[in-house]
Amino acid sequence: MARRSFKAGALTAPLPPVMVTVGDMENSNIITIGWTGILSTIPPRTYISVRPERHSYGILKRTNEFVINLTTAKLAKKVDYAGIYTGAKVDKFKECGLTKAESKEVSAPTIAECPLSLECRVVEVIPMGTHDVFIADIVSVSCDESIIDENGKICFDRAGLLAYAHGEYYALGEKVGRFGFSTKKQSAKKPPQKNKAVENKPKNTPVAKETDIQENKKRPFYLDAPRGKGSKQKGGRKGR
Ligand SMILES: Cc1cc2nc3c(=O)[nH]c(=O)nc-3n(C[C@H](O)[C@H](O)[C@H](O)COP(=O)(O)O)c2cc1C
Repeated sequence: MARRSFKAGALTAPLPPVMVTVGDMENSNIITIGWTGILSTIPPRTYISVRPERHSYGILKRTNEFVINLTTAKLAKKVDYAGIYTGAKVDKFKECGLTKAESKEVSAPTIAECPLSLECRVVEVIPMGTHDVFIADIVSVSCDESIIDENGKICFDRAGLLAYAHGEYYALGEKVGRFGFSTKKQSAKKPPQKNKAVENKPKNTPVAKETDIQENKKRPFYLDAPRGKGSKQKGGRKGR
């Protein structure tokens, strides 16, 4: 297939357009951030990239705390608003009709309408060019109970998450698989097929079981804790 080259640019997609809250319960602000992600599993560490000219930048530098609030398609207009208007001039909580909830570990409020929030404490600020990168430990996570199932699993497919790609907002689509599904020999619904490897194996030779892979399902999505000393995933790589 033919491909075309463009000049270098900061282009990747999809991004999570998160609403980051800064300040405290009395004086707070919301800034929409696209430049964010996870840096490390243990310690759970994240980053946000913020231009020094943003009103939120000074608050971040002073308080060293923030909350990353994941957003939904239903919240898209509010997400956009918080990314257009400045907190220097408007109260974005008021204008967007969003609710402040007390965070557990940091002073910055959590947005009650958001399905999942990561409370963060800054460990380092690195100038990167147009933006400064605020690297932070995730010190607490809170989640709307409506997306937690009866087994305590967080079901993001119920959340209606929002994605951002090259200046446009999208509602996240259907689920197409889950972690490790590429290694499944066959779907549970399909009738069992003959496995030549098993049929031809010499007697008493152990064969890898489906449950070896299924173990991954039980771990929390955000804390991919090692399953014992020296444990490795298939292919010899450690967890996410
Ligand atoms: C979808 C979206 C993503 C954005 N991502 C970033 C970002 O990663 N970093 C940044 O500094 N500004 C980003 N912005 C711009 C700020 O959100 C915007 O300038 C905002 O008005 C700043 O608010 P404040 O002045 O109250 O801090 C983004 C805006 C939108 C709409």
